Amino acid sequence: MPEFQHSPGMRDILPPDSGRWRQFQAVFAQVVEAAGYGEVMPPLMEDLGVFQRVGEATDVVTKEMYDFTDRGGRHVSLRPECTASVCRIFAQHRPITPWKVFYAGPNFRYEKPQRGRFRQFDQVGIEVLGADDPYLDVEVIALAWEFYQRLGLRQVKLLLNSLGELDDRTRYEASLAEYFNDNLERLSPESRITLTKNPLRVLDSKRAGDAAVLADAPRIASFYGADAAANFEAVQQGLTDLGIPFTIDTALVRGLDYYRRTTFEFQGGTLDSAQNALGGGGRYDGLVESLGGPATHGIGFALGLDRTLLACDDEGVFGAPNKTVDVFVVDTTGGQEALRITAQLRAAGISADRAFENRSMKSQMKGADRSGAPLAIIVGSNELEAGYVVIRPLRGEDVQRSVARDTLISEVIKALQTAPKEATQ
Ligand code: HAM
Repeated sequence: MPEFQHSPGMRDILPPDSGRWRQFQAVFAQVVEAAGYGEVMPPLMEDLGVFQRVGEATDVVTKEMYDFTDRGGRHVSLRPECTASVCRIFAQHRPITPWKVFYAGPNFRYEKPQRGRFRQFDQVGIEVLGADDPYLDVEVIALAWEFYQRLGLRQVKLLLNSLGELDDRTRYEASLAEYFNDNLERLSPESRITLTKNPLRVLDSKRAGDAAVLADAPRIASFYGADAAANFEAVQQGLTDLGIPFTIDTALVRGLDYYRRTTFEFQGGTLDSAQNALGGGGRYDGLVESLGGPATHGIGFALGLDRTLLACDDEGVFGAPNKTVDVFVVDTTGGQEALRITAQLRAAGISADRAFENRSMKSQMKGADRSGAPLAIIVGSNELEAGYVVIRPLRGEDVQRSVARDTLISEVIKALQTAPKEATQ
């Protein structure tokens, strides 16, 4: 065992898995760029205060932050998510609205590592700042839906709720607190603690003992004012229009405190219930203001890459891309000719790999096979002297041919057009 391993909750992503990650981000970028979103790249680290605005009552802020004092005495933290950073960026740069952006990258939360839960985890997401329109909420949800479809996922479920306007939410919280306090003896000890911090979050409890008291708890729907009710109705109508199925879940409160009105979560059909949230988001109209910017409407979502890929594994879709080079060069004359040939091929846009250390023909051919390339180019001393190279198809029935060295590129292009490739997923 080597002295060092990666820290708990962190992972090393090796090829070919890393190709799958890149592909995941590329498909996401295609989907959202086609809807007018531009990429924003927030820093990995911010002043701690930026993330504290996410809500002092959330575990993410109180227990899971990777914060430290830097050498200049600033109290900073690795980002636990991107929404607060995007709002800080908006408050600082004041771009033209509506500002439609997407992001992709790692976040850090000091959580208990388990399947689908890591301390460094990747998300892709979008945020729209400066527009308040239920059809925007629908667009945002529809883009996540479209992305899941593009990955090939068919068992994802959309859960939808509205937390009402801030006033509605505040009245609801008060009523919930009263109800739970009246039923304190029926609540689990963990939920009693949650109650003192945030009564809404008690609705999140998955503990069997809490089920009965949760079942009779007041529902948010009876607290909606006319505006919130009409807004929620329009969002549902829009989703129905687009043929996106959803289930209303009035207990969906989400883990971060900044949400108002529309909230949603995507659940995988196959993961354990504690980790089955593939992604989620909602409206958060007060966040930019709390970061020193103008009052600005905001909505967005983030989708967890890790859990979404686990869901892909479970559904047998979106496997690792089969990345192979076009040509593998075998040179038994010392390696210099392989150096020239690979450079020439790559300059012509043909991907090429080669063997090093002037190994035997047999060992180099093994490397050629392992590379998955459909073609090998072989140079021995006879070919080198006579000004020829051998092109050998590595799969299928075709036989090898000698071609003049100075026609190499055109011959390789021709051979690649007919050479059978390994099955790609
Ligand atoms: P979140 O629900 O905290 O929301 O995270 C979104 C997704 O990130 C989760 O559904 C999950 O797939 C993934 N995720 C979160 N924590 C972990 C972890 N420890 N390990 C693996 N995956 C994880 C947000 O982050 C909000 N910023 C979403 C948003 C954007 N709301 C509005 N705009």
